[in-house]
Amino acid sequence: MQQANKLSQNSREQTFEFTETDFKSLREMVLTHTGITLAEHKRDLVYGRLAKRLRALGLTRFCDYCDLLKNDKNNEIEQFTNAITTNLTSFFREKHHFEHLAKDIVPALMDSYRVNNRIRIWSAGCSTGEEAYSIAITLRESIPDIDRRDIRILATDLDSDVIQTGSSGVYSKTRIEALDSERKKRWFKQGSGEQKGKVQVSPELRKLVTFKQLNLMHEWPMRGKFDVVFCRNVVIYFDKPTQKPLFERFANIMRPESTLFIGHSETLNNVSDRFELTGKTVYKKIR
Ligand SMILES: C[S@@+](CC[C@H](N)C(=O)[O-])C[C@H]1O[C@@H](n2cnc3c(N)ncnc32)[C@H](O)[C@@H]1O
Repeated sequence: MQQANKLSQNSREQTFEFTETDFKSLREMVLTHTGITLAEHKRDLVYGRLAKRLRALGLTRFCDYCDLLKNDKNNEIEQFTNAITTNLTSFFREKHHFEHLAKDIVPALMDSYRVNNRIRIWSAGCSTGEEAYSIAITLRESIPDIDRRDIRILATDLDSDVIQTGSSGVYSKTRIEALDSERKKRWFKQGSGEQKGKVQVSPELRKLVTFKQLNLMHEWPMRGKFDVVFCRNVVIYFDKPTQKPLFERFANIMRPESTLFIGHSETLNNVSDRFELTGKTVYKKIR
């Protein structure tokens, strides 16, 4: 036992034995299974996120939890990755992206629709679905005859829990507080009885969005090309060697001149030369 390295020596009291070796091993497994690089200073975060898993499994030591993961027991890898991912999101997060989508991208999409007869948008790393539904609201508000067209949004995430929330379209009322009253009224149904304090996105929005669990590090089953890809606040957790092949794959699955939105603190500088910056964290596929 590596008593000297135990996290329990920190001032904060720890219930579970957590050594340097355990942390190293967990970091390696996180990288392998998700592409996420966990920095040294994320030790307490990892402890905090996984403590409830150890408790649920009746374990007292992280080394036993690592063994369980290595032996791929009880499908624990899924619970593990669900616990590690950071799912922070909101409706119309980085709202300038949706304004740009409505004002500049949708008109261009309508032109290409005349040729291709379909539009496909991908929210990659969609978390609980607010991003995909914000896209759906933007499309519905700017394409009045959308129901007569073949327009779909694919929303994917590695985390199975968030995919379930997204598919249900049910959110706490506080999640839509910042939206204007017109949008709240038009696109959300107030819950009653057991659902009091909750809202559900309207069937017109849900109809446009398909949620699927997908690990970006794995093979992508999609066949057709995408006209727009949102991959925002996802690669911030990936190192450059992980980002480079990922953006290569995004470029390959996107139509020529299609649009890529990334997160506010992300950049494709020194990552990919397949895209050209056209706005604030907005890129066009150029080759
Ligand atoms: C911070 S959220 C961003 C949500 C949304 N795109 C936004 O900007 O509001 C990052 C999401 O990326 C997902 N993610 C992380 N690694 C992933 C991977 N390898 N494959 C798919 N999704 C992943 C996480 O589960 C999480 O839900």
